[in-house]
Order: sequence, then structure tokens, then C-alpha cells
Amino acid sequence: MSDNQDQIDYWNGEAGATWVRVQERLDAMLEPLSKVAVDKANPVSGERAIDVGCGCGATTLALAARGTAVWGVDISEPMLAHAKQRGAGMEHVAFSVADAASQALTPDHDLIFSRFGVMFFADPVGAFTNLRSGLKADGRLVFLCWQSPRENPWVSVGGAAIAPFLPEAEPPDPKAPGPFAFADRDYLHGILSQAGYADINIDPVHVDLNIGRDLDDAMEFQGQVGPAARALAELSGEQREAALAAAREALQAFVTPQGVVLGSATWLVSAKAAG
Ligand SMILES: C[S@@+](CC[C@H](N)C(=O)[O-])C[C@H]1O[C@@H](n2cnc3c(N)ncnc32)[C@H](O)[C@@H]1O
Repeated sequence: MSDNQDQIDYWNGEAGATWVRVQERLDAMLEPLSKVAVDKANPVSGERAIDVGCGCGATTLALAARGTAVWGVDISEPMLAHAKQRGAGMEHVAFSVADAASQALTPDHDLIFSRFGVMFFADPVGAFTNLRSGLKADGRLVFLCWQSPRENPWVSVGGAAIAPFLPEAEPPDPKAPGPFAFADRDYLHGILSQAGYADINIDPVHVDLNIGRDLDDAMEFQGQVGPAARALAELSGEQREAALAAAREALQAFVTPQGVVLGSATWLVSAKAAG
């Protein structure tokens, strides 16, 4: 069994199906961040890239639109099937269902890229070492990952409102595989340096995210994707209704004429293959 079996099960289950269902709005919400990451990666015509944890393929297609040959790799069969449909007929785009931590790679890629697809490895140093084996000697790594939930009101505001309704539990290991596993900048730097990367830059990016046209839309979204959805899945009946009402009240303060808008904080990471 793979080290990453829990994640393989997770992303091939309800989570993968939900991501396919909400792909359009998720991509719209994350577009400002995609742009920052793709601009930083600066892919050019004739280059070869791997999009790690490409999911439904938004950034694979964005990189390919710049003339780069892109291979999207993901463990989620439903998300990848959707990505393949979106990329049908596009030149220089390929997708494979594969675990990026162990997939054998040839050292002929210019860029390893990811939008939020590299925080789920059971053995991050091993996985990033494997990814480095796919880079040319002068190849580069560029990815985006989340800072802590506390720095991300778009998840923490709803999350804090829901928390009192959840059963008491040990706080989870903040470095366990999951969206916020790389929140600690020094820890992330250590992983990349142990995995053999050089010229490591980890820069903060702060962008406002529009999580819904209005409160109803934002609540529906929070119930489907992300940490609030994971927490709400633990509740049922009156408890769930009360938690949803509390989250709704907390989000009320962030309603604007443009929609429900809250801040986000990510790390924009770049590094070189070899020292
Ligand atoms: C938060 S989603 C991001 C998806 C996509 N990059 C996006 O921004 O829409 C994380 C993705 O990483 C994928 N993933 C998790 N662990 C992986 C692994 N070991 N190898 C390849 N993909 C993985 C998941 O299946 C999922 O599609």
C-alpha cells in the first residue's frame, strides 16, 4: 500500500466528486492566485513542465496556453477525468493518474509547478526529492501553498463559528498532510533544502478571495469544499443547523456589493533544482 493511501482514498471519494462539481467556481475564486503563480513560473514556449496535483487541470491548461508542454499528474481519477475533458484537443497537454511522490520521472523538465497540490505527501522530503529527479540541472520549482488557517479569514471565520459545535478532540498535527501542512515557513524551507533544492524563496502573498455572490452562495460553498465542509460533515441534525447559522452570522460582516470577500494568505515558493 502507498504511503499516501489515505489521500488517494480521500481524493477518489466524495472530495474528488465535489471538486469536479464546483470546478468552475473554485477556479474563478482562485484565479487571482493562479495568475500570481503562473507569472512567477514564467513558462515559455518549448519548455516542459509537470503540474503536480493538477486536479481538474486549470493551471495545466494555463501553463500550456503559454506554449509549454505540460504533464498534469494527480492521484484523483474523477478530477483527472474532468481535466482530460477540458484539455481535449489542446496541444502539448497530457494527464496521468499517478502519485507524484513515487512516479518515476526523467530529468528533462524545466519546471515543476503546483497550485495547492503538494501539501498532501506522507513523506514530503521523499516526495520533493522524487520531483527534483524530474528537473533538468537548471530546472525550477514554483508552487503555491496556504499559510495557517489563522492567516486565512476565508476559512477561519466560518471555521471559528463552527468549532464550538464540534465534539472535543485533540488538536490535529498542523504538519500532517492537508491544505495547511506547509504553513510554517521554516519547516517548509527545511523540507526543500533536505530534498536538495537551492535558491529557495518563500514569499507571502495576500489576496482577497470572493467566496460567493451573496451569503446563500457563500454558505453553500463552505458546506461543500474546504475545512468548514470537513467539519460540517461531522455534524448532523440540529447541531449542523446551529453550526451553519453561526457560520452564516459570522460571514455577514464580509458581504460587499461584489460578493462575500475575505482575505487569504499563501506562500509563493520558488527554488532551483541543484545547488
Ligand atoms: C487542493 S487540490 C488542488 C487541485 C488543483 N491543483 C487546483 O488548484 O485546483 C489538491 C490536489 O492534489 C492532489 N494530490 C494529493 N496528493 C497527491 C499525490 N501524492 N500525487 C499527486 N496528486 C496528489 C489531489 O488529488 C488534489 O487534486
